[in-house]
Amino acid sequence: MRWRSAFISVVLLTLVTVEKPQWVGAQSFHCKHSKSGALRPHSVSITEFGAVGDGVTLNTKAFQNAIFYLHSFADKGGAQLFVPAGKWLTGSFSLISHLTLSLDNDAIIIGSTDLDDWPIIDPLPSYGRGRELPGNRHQSLIHGYNLTDVVITGGNGTIDGQGSIWWDLFKNNTLNYTRPHLVELMYSIGVVISNLTFTNSPFWAIHPVYCSQVLIQNVTILAPLDSPNTDGIDPDSSTNVCIKDCYISTGDDLIVIKSGWDEYGISFARPSSNISIKGILGQTKFGAGIAIGSEMSGGVSEVHAEGIHIFNSLYGIRIKTSPGRGGYVRNIYISNVIMTDVKYAIRITGQFGEHPDDNYDPNALPYINRITFKDIYGEHIGFAGLLEGIKGDNFSDICLSGVLLNATGSEDPQWNCSYVEGYSYQVYPVSCQLLQQVPNDSSVCYAPADNCMKLASL
Ligand SMILES: *[C@@H]1O[C@H](CO)[C@@H](O)[C@H](O)[C@H]1NC(C)=O
Ligand SMILES: *[C@@H]1O[C@H](CO)[C@@H](O)[C@H](O)[C@H]1NC(C)=O
Ligand SMILES: *[C@@H]1O[C@H](CO)[C@@H](O)[C@H](O)[C@H]1NC(C)=O
Ligand SMILES: *[C@@H]1O[C@H](CO)[C@@H](O)[C@H](O)[C@H]1NC(C)=O
Ligand SMILES: *[C@@H]1O[C@H](CO)[C@@H](O)[C@H](O)[C@H]1NC(C)=O
Ligand SMILES: *[C@@H]1O[C@H](CO)[C@@H](O)[C@H](O)[C@H]1NC(C)=O
Ligand SMILES: *[C@@H]1O[C@H](CO)[C@@H](O)[C@H](O)[C@H]1NC(C)=O
Ligand SMILES: *[C@@H]1O[C@H](CO)[C@@H](O)[C@H](O)[C@H]1NC(C)=O
Ligand SMILES: *[C@@H]1O[C@H](CO)[C@@H](O)[C@H](O)[C@H]1NC(C)=O
Ligand SMILES: *[C@@H]1O[C@H](CO)[C@@H](O)[C@H](O)[C@H]1NC(C)=O
Ligand SMILES: *[C@@H]1O[C@H](CO)[C@@H](O)[C@H](O)[C@H]1NC(C)=O
Repeated sequence: MRWRSAFISVVLLTLVTVEKPQWVGAQSFHCKHSKSGALRPHSVSITEFGAVGDGVTLNTKAFQNAIFYLHSFADKGGAQLFVPAGKWLTGSFSLISHLTLSLDNDAIIIGSTDLDDWPIIDPLPSYGRGRELPGNRHQSLIHGYNLTDVVITGGNGTIDGQGSIWWDLFKNNTLNYTRPHLVELMYSIGVVISNLTFTNSPFWAIHPVYCSQVLIQNVTILAPLDSPNTDGIDPDSSTNVCIKDCYISTGDDLIVIKSGWDEYGISFARPSSNISIKGILGQTKFGAGIAIGSEMSGGVSEVHAEGIHIFNSLYGIRIKTSPGRGGYVRNIYISNVIMTDVKYAIRITGQFGEHPDDNYDPNALPYINRITFKDIYGEHIGFAGLLEGIKGDNFSDICLSGVLLNATGSEDPQWNCSYVEGYSYQVYPVSCQLLQQVPNDSSVCYAPADNCMKLASL
């Protein structure tokens, strides 16, 4: 069959892309290579502050003291805190501006399993409460607030959250506060996270929130496939974000873009936009490769994802929302995706539910518009697409272009659509009736122009 050879050539093309991280290709793509390797004029080792890398000694104070000391270099080009080979047990600590936290290849930062080492902090204003439980939440292992120019990097050193204690507490419903992330940076500008491995996060692994100018490159994120809500990377109410060349294998969404929750997200009104994702390989048992929502009340727009390979997963691409969310998801372009052994290739959910409290406005309907799925190829797909909009709030200009899915399941129909409107062109199996308009000119399917982010200077 003709599409089979097209499938194979695109598979090869994308695998080359994914396996050669330094590939700098399509002019339309925004991620530029970082020069974050630029050395800070001053560097100290964590051992100068009494840290012991035996995996047993608690080094929270050493991290805090080292970072406090490095304050004085912030206006002199900043400083580097070096973590040499060893196992460095620590509780939560906070970064400062103009700081590079740099891990040696054989350095492992290990999160304490004593919950008291993870302080309690306020909920995010755009969520109004902890994501899992009302009230406050635990602070992430590596935290940042109000920072500029911060780099977390290494020669593939590891940051291990030792999440299993948290997963157990979550499963047996004995947590008092929402679980912490491995890395959370709030209100920060100019963030680079690169060349590291993140394992066993208690909750989401990397959470930039209210940030801009964020580059996440060449990181590996691992957690057991059955660990609860261990999302990989969650850009949240953040702009100008580039995520590239990552391998992610976790229990929930690999990369998921968010922007606040129901009435809190609506009133905080901080969107996520200009998000670029490229060269991602990964698997997730309960989540999606690339997702948006379900918290999207501040709006999500200008998302450009390409060169994504998702295998052995529940969902390929997913958009989640609900009445009560308000906000919007628009101008989303996802292209050049390979899926293998994925149960649902594309899912749009308009009734996700999950509200922070009873004060949400059920009439706050999300506006979902101009979502393009282009050049999506799948093998061993269970179900091509389940696309549910909201009654009285059709999701519009949904465009499927070059979507070829070899669905092995016996489900019929392969596309199940409601309250959506849009287009399809070269889609197999034949798409649902609601999306069968043929795009008559290129403008109906959203395809972003070159809006290169200026991330090269980070
Ligand atoms: C955050 O930064 C702003 C402006 O630089 C400053 O006014 C504010 O006090 C800072 N807040 C905290 C908690 O550091
Ligand atoms: C990715 O990280 C590894 C390990 O740190 C390093 O050897 C490699 O050069 C990095 N690749 C890129 C493109 O930065
Ligand atoms: C980094 O280390 C992880 C875990 O040891 C490994 O799976 C991955 O392949 C390494 N990445 C690079 C780029 O060397
Ligand atoms: C819940 O899990 C924690 C961590 O494994 C364990 O210490 C605790 O005994 C469990 N509680 C219940 C009620 O099962
Ligand atoms: C939750 O709070 C109760 C009461 O303060 C305390 O006994 C329990 O240890 C706490 N549980 C956790 C997981 O922190
Ligand atoms: C990652 O490591 C490689 C190899 O050491 C280096 O060339 C590159 O600049 C680093 N990337 C980032 C984004 O730090
Ligand atoms: C679809 O998959 C089946 C089972 O793997 C295979 O036999 C068939 O050739 C594939 N069809 C196409 C068009 O690739
Ligand atoms: C389509 O999906 C809806 C859920 O959104 C389900 O209730 C319905 O049974 C499905 N229809 C078919 C024909 O599979
Ligand atoms: C919404 O979509 C449905 C099909 O699901 C269609 O019948 C209806 O006319 C659309 N409503 C509006 C207001 O366009
Ligand atoms: C394409 O179709 C839309 C309606 O689906 C119409 O409004 C528009 O004028 C058409 N454009 C061209 C170039 O025919
Ligand atoms: C998004 O990128 C475009 C093009 O580079 C730029 O004009 C726009 O200001 C950016 N938006 C935000 C919120 O930074």
